[in-house]
Amino acid sequence: MSSAPRPLLLRALAGESTPRPPIWMMRQAGRYLPEYRALRSQAKDFIAFCLNPVMAAEATLQPMRRFGLDAAIVFADILLIPLGLGQKVWFEEGEGPKLGPLPSNADLERGLEQAPAILAPVGETLTTVRAALEPHRALIGFAGAPWTVATYMIEGGGSRDRTASRALAYQDPARIDGLLDILAEASAQYLTMQARAGADVLKLFDSWTDGLAEDQFERLVIAPHRKIVTRLREAGVTAPVIGFPRGAGALAEGYVARSGVDAVALDVQASADLGQRLQHSMPIQGALDPLLLRAGGAALGTRVEQMLRQWGGGPYVFNLGHGILPDTPIAHVEQVVELVTGWGGTR
Ligand code: CP3
Repeated sequence: MSSAPRPLLLRALAGESTPRPPIWMMRQAGRYLPEYRALRSQAKDFIAFCLNPVMAAEATLQPMRRFGLDAAIVFADILLIPLGLGQKVWFEEGEGPKLGPLPSNADLERGLEQAPAILAPVGETLTTVRAALEPHRALIGFAGAPWTVATYMIEGGGSRDRTASRALAYQDPARIDGLLDILAEASAQYLTMQARAGADVLKLFDSWTDGLAEDQFERLVIAPHRKIVTRLREAGVTAPVIGFPRGAGALAEGYVARSGVDAVALDVQASADLGQRLQHSMPIQGALDPLLLRAGGAALGTRVEQMLRQWGGGPYVFNLGHGILPDTPIAHVEQVVELVTGWGGTR
């Protein structure tokens, strides 16, 4: 008997130029799906939803049932790490995340001991989903990267331009470096647990790397990513790591050279040329504009085909440049999945 086919996503992330690119979408589980909204209304709050393995597994699988996606991404949130370390985190309806006062580094360091027990339900979600998922589909685990998570912890939530965080990086370097170290340690442990629980691929979301001077990007983004990947490999984790330094611009080249990740996710602004240059070093993922996905029409199909032509030859994973917007029509997602999964066979 032949063994199960290797998931297309794993082939692309190993550097293979696959017959067609694998496809999945950031935030593929979420409010644009009526079945997600129904499930969400049964949860006490968003954190309780993420930490309930039965509900979280169901949310993870919902987009897999609807669309022929090549990978599922575990339903969780990047702010579970600060929660695990002992900072208050809650979500206010329509307002996004809120965080309590930033604990001292000494308190957060003590929080490292309790974090695994708090985050354990995410492992149960992964094990449940892996068992339910067909063998040729991949399962992605993730964590927020230290810099992005630190900005939420420092600002007390989302913020327009993260000025307080970027200022603190200059004004109190010891505190920021200490904070990033604790977050890198917590993330490495959390991702190791996710790989052992069934994640085939790991992703680091660094959503807020724009606006950093080159030396700060090196220190706040590249160094913590490298630390996490090193710790994962020391722990024996072999799952490929996708890094997403959103907003890196031209600094993405240094990121690819020095972060240690296996593949790089590009954002909406990445040029055709930048993607092709990076593809010489590692597989790339991205980067359809979620606003175009929402708008639909002829321009959507044209752009998808352009991305397939410019990047489809190299190791490439089709995705968005940021998460799906809540008011995205489901038919537009179906159209994109059809275009990508049908590509190649008809050329
Ligand atoms: O489908 C998936 O991609 C998996 C699940 C996932 C969620 N959040 C679920 C979620 C993932 C990978 C994330 C990552 C995440 N969370 C990031 C990094 C990626 C990015 O978008 O930049 C960030 C910055 C967060 C923090 C966060 N969580 C914010 C800012 C918000 C509020 C925004 C919003 O849409 O309301 C969340 C909440 C959140 N995380 C939702 C979902 C489905 C919506 C909450 C709800 O259903 O009420």
